[in-house]
Amino acid sequence: MAPCAKVSIDPVAQFVSDVRTGLCKKGQKELPSKYLYDPLGFALFEVITQLPEYGLTRADERLLRRHATEIVRHVPSPALVSELGSGSGRKTRWILSALCEREPVSYYPIELSRAALESCESELGDVECVSIVGVEREYLDGLREVAALRADGVHLLVLFLGSTIGNFDSGADARFLSEVRSVLAPGDSLLLGIDLWKPPERMLEAYDDPQGVTAAFNLNLLGRINRELDGDFDLRQFEHVARFNEATSSIEMHLRSKRRQVVNVRRSGFAATFAAGETIWTESSHKYTRREIAELAVACDFRVEGQWVDDEWPFAENLWVAV
Ligand code: TRP
Repeated sequence: MAPCAKVSIDPVAQFVSDVRTGLCKKGQKELPSKYLYDPLGFALFEVITQLPEYGLTRADERLLRRHATEIVRHVPSPALVSELGSGSGRKTRWILSALCEREPVSYYPIELSRAALESCESELGDVECVSIVGVEREYLDGLREVAALRADGVHLLVLFLGSTIGNFDSGADARFLSEVRSVLAPGDSLLLGIDLWKPPERMLEAYDDPQGVTAAFNLNLLGRINRELDGDFDLRQFEHVARFNEATSSIEMHLRSKRRQVVNVRRSGFAATFAAGETIWTESSHKYTRREIAELAVACDFRVEGQWVDDEWPFAENLWVAV
């Protein structure tokens, strides 16, 4: 085997091992947030994006719809577009249509799941003069592949929407964006959607809606472990908790055990004990200030080309250029 070759282990084995590591941890137990998005989780998240309390996705989409023409005016021609995590593809439509006003566009969405790529292909398949090539890879591997494909003189526009950057641990956001930068050539662009700080009550409502959809979404992670790893979590004995951590300016999502209990995950071959009130940390969502965004751009070797902020829901669309 070549040195440093990446050994790909099958996804079930990876899930088994991540669940064991996360639930057997001393101190704060945790589960990786990427496992929230099985088909049921994906569907519940789509409902979250329509809740009145969760304004994030609508703000992102509104900004792109209103300003797409102006945003693409800052992107040199000809351009190739790649997106990190295409989701349903609904928001991307505006950028692709605006680019299409001047030239045919090649669009490379990068996603880990084939299902997500298919839903993006069917959502955007009708935008005229766009050819879609799905890339089923981790973000950075996929981006390297796309960057290697482009011809001389073609500009690369990378989209990273929906404030997914806020879900990276503190410090990991800058490391990730620096890696993205290292794949780009000077002059290439990054359009980055970032959710901004707002009064904590408003942020907390967005992550703990009164209809309980967010709770169902978070609890589905335990349901998924039951279904796929033969676990025996009693979902009624856990509850969704959202907290605002002032020190890190992040909303933290947890699942709290209502009583002392032992849970078996048979396929992972272990039992985890929970004290009453003990939590599993499932995701954090960092909320940025505008100043922090400006500093992040410089730290990662970008210059700020433009910023568009929504007036109903503080959220920023940021166009950065690689220096
Ligand atoms: N990445 C989304 C966000 O930070 C995901 C999300 C919304 C989420 N609600 C959640 C993740 C509740 C876990 C629990 O906004």
